[in-house]
Amino acid sequence: MLKGKTVLLGVSGGIAAYKTCTLVSHLKDRGANVYVIMTKEAVKLVSPHIFRSLSGNPTIIDLFDYRHITLPHIALSEMADILVIAPCTANVIGKIAQGIADDALTTVVLASTAKKLVAPAMNCNMWRNTVVQENVEKLKEMRFEFVGPEIGKLACGDIDIGRMSEPNSIIEKINEILSPTQDLRGLSILITAGGTREQIDPVRFISNRSSGKMGYTLAEAAVSRGAEVTLISGPCSLTPPEGVKTIMVESAQEMHDEVAVHREGKKAIIMAAAVADYRPSITFWQKLKKDSNNFTLELSKTSDILAELGRNKNGTFLVGFAAESNDHISNAKEKLEKKNLDIIVANDISAFEQDDSEATIINKSGKIETLTKFSKKEIAHRINVKAAERPLKLSTE
Ligand code: CTP
Repeated sequence: MLKGKTVLLGVSGGIAAYKTCTLVSHLKDRGANVYVIMTKEAVKLVSPHIFRSLSGNPTIIDLFDYRHITLPHIALSEMADILVIAPCTANVIGKIAQGIADDALTTVVLASTAKKLVAPAMNCNMWRNTVVQENVEKLKEMRFEFVGPEIGKLACGDIDIGRMSEPNSIIEKINEILSPTQDLRGLSILITAGGTREQIDPVRFISNRSSGKMGYTLAEAAVSRGAEVTLISGPCSLTPPEGVKTIMVESAQEMHDEVAVHREGKKAIIMAAAVADYRPSITFWQKLKKDSNNFTLELSKTSDILAELGRNKNGTFLVGFAAESNDHISNAKEKLEKKNLDIIVANDISAFEQDDSEATIINKSGKIETLTKFSKKEIAHRINVKAAERPLKLSTE
């Protein structure tokens, strides 16, 4: 769940900072990228070098040390999936509540739009102090999540409330905050991805620049929302997402045949693959020799998988992609109608091989939604939600 997520981990000056070392290594074990930001008080308790070696990233104490990065507080806050402060002292809670940004941690907090989690740690009387409780309430109103404090042995020796939650409880809370809703549970979705290869001879083929990223991201997003996902993929270098039934194919014909086998019972089919429109009429079984100066290769049309699905929909929600270099909207609309789709996602061919993209989602009734500067992940979630709307309605009809 935390694999590939970026956690900004603020450490303020509480004795519990020693437990944050375990938290960092647990986060790393789960595949998260961790950047630790320490307050000057925290540095007196735990060495920044420990966090540096545990996280594999520089420990941030003073933003002025990062003059080579323009606006380091913005750069840091933008890359975070979540910002966690553990331990969070009464002082830091108070500063955030008042909008004070007088060090690296509080400046990043103020600049960040990421989800935020606070693990307070302090003396029991400090925690119960009215002003601290007012500040905590203020943070909750600002949609900060809290984990703890717990009742246990405090630094002063008393057994009372104020102890920082254990690293695993903090991780559970992070998972809870980051996991998307399970709104696709019970739905089975078929997704295609990547380009196909049309063999000319044993060493040569016709293909295209599709990297498969959009289809794989769609599959990953759908499975994380609880869907049962079958992914039919052309050759590509991506690792199949965990929990997705992945079938690798080579040619448009193989993709066509696998879609025919797996379409049964699917509530939605999303054709993100860049299927070849033409294949060589003859595949040579021996390597072609360059005997003549000119060589003409005859091509035959492949079957249009999506158009075929559109002719026999059986209530399946059909999503197509339109990769265009010009007249995106009008070309996409034409494909939507011609192939009898429910929605089509128009994107520019420059999106091939990129992580970020721009996409326009057009539905049957002509409603257009343009997503500018979105990551493929965000686009994937948006498409999945749309694909789920109709099947969910159908299942309750
Ligand atoms: N598609 C398909 N089978 C094909 C070709 C395309 O299922 N043989 C699907 C693609 O997966 C995509 C949609 O049809 O979802 C549109 O593909 P695109 O390549 O943009 O358009 P084409 O229909 O192939 O038309 P053209 O290449 O002329 O733009």
